[in-house]
Amino acid sequence: MKSGNNIIVVLAIVIWFMGLSSNAQLNATFYAGTCPNVTSIVNGVIQQALQTDARMGASLLRLHFHDCFVQGCDGSILLDDSASIESEKDAFPNANSTRGYDVVDNIKTALENSCPGVVSCADILAIAAEVSVSLAGGPSWDVLLGRRDSTTANRALANTSLPSPFESVSSIISKFTAQGLNITDVVTLSGAHTFGRAECRTFSPRLYDFNGTGNPDPTLDTSYLATLQQTCPQNGSDTTITNFDLTTADNFDNNYYSNLQNNKGLLFSDQELFSTTGSDTIAIVNSFSSSQSAFFQNFVQSMINMGNISPLTGTNGQIRLDCKKVN
Ligand code: HEM
Ligand SMILES: *[C@@H]1O[C@H](CO)[C@@H](O)[C@H](O)[C@H]1NC(C)=O
Ligand SMILES: *[C@@H]1O[C@H](CO)[C@@H](O)[C@H](O)[C@H]1NC(C)=O
Ligand SMILES: *[C@@H]1O[C@H](CO)[C@@H](O)[C@H](O)[C@H]1NC(C)=O
Ligand SMILES: *[C@@H]1O[C@H](CO)[C@@H](O)[C@H](O)[C@H]1NC(C)=O
Ligand SMILES: *[C@@H]1O[C@H](CO)[C@@H](O)[C@H](O)[C@H]1NC(C)=O
Ligand SMILES: *[C@@H]1O[C@H](CO)[C@@H](O)[C@H](O)[C@H]1NC(C)=O
Repeated sequence: MKSGNNIIVVLAIVIWFMGLSSNAQLNATFYAGTCPNVTSIVNGVIQQALQTDARMGASLLRLHFHDCFVQGCDGSILLDDSASIESEKDAFPNANSTRGYDVVDNIKTALENSCPGVVSCADILAIAAEVSVSLAGGPSWDVLLGRRDSTTANRALANTSLPSPFESVSSIISKFTAQGLNITDVVTLSGAHTFGRAECRTFSPRLYDFNGTGNPDPTLDTSYLATLQQTCPQNGSDTTITNFDLTTADNFDNNYYSNLQNNKGLLFSDQELFSTTGSDTIAIVNSFSSSQSAFFQNFVQSMINMGNISPLTGTNGQIRLDCKKVN
């Protein structure tokens, strides 16, 4: 055999081996042999949590998003501060905001009782996101699994990678593009704001001092503006919460998009998807407003796309026994 051929054979073996050890694809049956009941166990814990906290599904969906955008879907957001970890929980987009960590811990405990040392914390977040959407009336899908957990967290990256509610649509699109997601994913995944709550501080400049004008955001529907001003009586650091969706607060549906068409988007980053002149996002908002099934179909695809952001697989990372700390 010529040496050129030898090199090709060696390269093929190396690439095949990398595929096995580190670049393995996620798949829907990853735990079929080792934890066949994983989805129903996660479902049971979430249903119980929802009985006392209707917001919890939204909070869990958001945790998966905030996990995936920071060094990939690797459970890094769940790590607490320690000698070697600067927790992402205290990063600006998460501090006093992300929630549901206790429910993740309850899920982990239930799974450790059934299938010890098997299911990663990163996969728990992916399954919990699907279960939460589905229980709220949204679509169901086969969650791709096989992620492993990081041994590191990155607070600085959480500060810079996660989108801010005050950012322009083009800047938000750039942050999604940097993760391998496109404009369709931006508009589709923003539809997650069909349920859950936001604190006044995340939108109050729209009510009192839009872009330093000293006036409200002129885009905002005037009666909605008046309602929001009652909920949030001041510009600034108020942590009072309000519903994202003013009609069906806890349902996963396509009302988010008709709210945008009616100038009743809550965050600046929501409304600008529809109100930015010339933006490619407008047509997508219109199509999801007129078809819930188009929204649901795209949501499933975009959640799979987001869930595929740089997972640790094969022998990389670890299966944490406690989601809050490295083994
Ligand atoms: C497009 C850029 C996005 C921005 C700027 C953004 C920003 C925000 C902000 C500021 C809040 C309120 C947090 C608080 O007040 O504590 C929030 C809540 C939420 N976000 Fe987003 N978000 C974005 C995309 C997404 C995506 C992609 C998802 C999931 C697929 C998502 C899911 C949620 C959910 C479900 C809530 C409510 C959480 C709860 O009630 O606990 N968001 N988001
Ligand atoms: C799923 O992925 C795992 C790990 O890569 C692999 O062992 C398993 O055979 C895969 N299952 C299917 C159905 O592809
Ligand atoms: C899965 O659930 C079934 C029925 O609820 C139970 O009989 C079985 O033991 C469970 N399997 C595991 C691995 O927990
Ligand atoms: C979170 O809330 C606490 C207590 O209200 C406050 O001391 C802290 O500064 C807040 N952190 C951030 C990042 O807003
Ligand atoms: C992240 O943002 C918070 C809040 O603005 C800030 O206190 C902290 O220094 C930042 N941390 C890093 C590591 O960038
Ligand atoms: C975004 O990617 C999806 C595949 O996930 C594709 O169907 C869609 O056309 C893309 N959208 C744009 C605007 O390129
Ligand atoms: C309103 O809050 C925003 C964001 O914190 C700040 O930039 C702006 O200066 C505030 N405006 C007034 C009039 O206090």
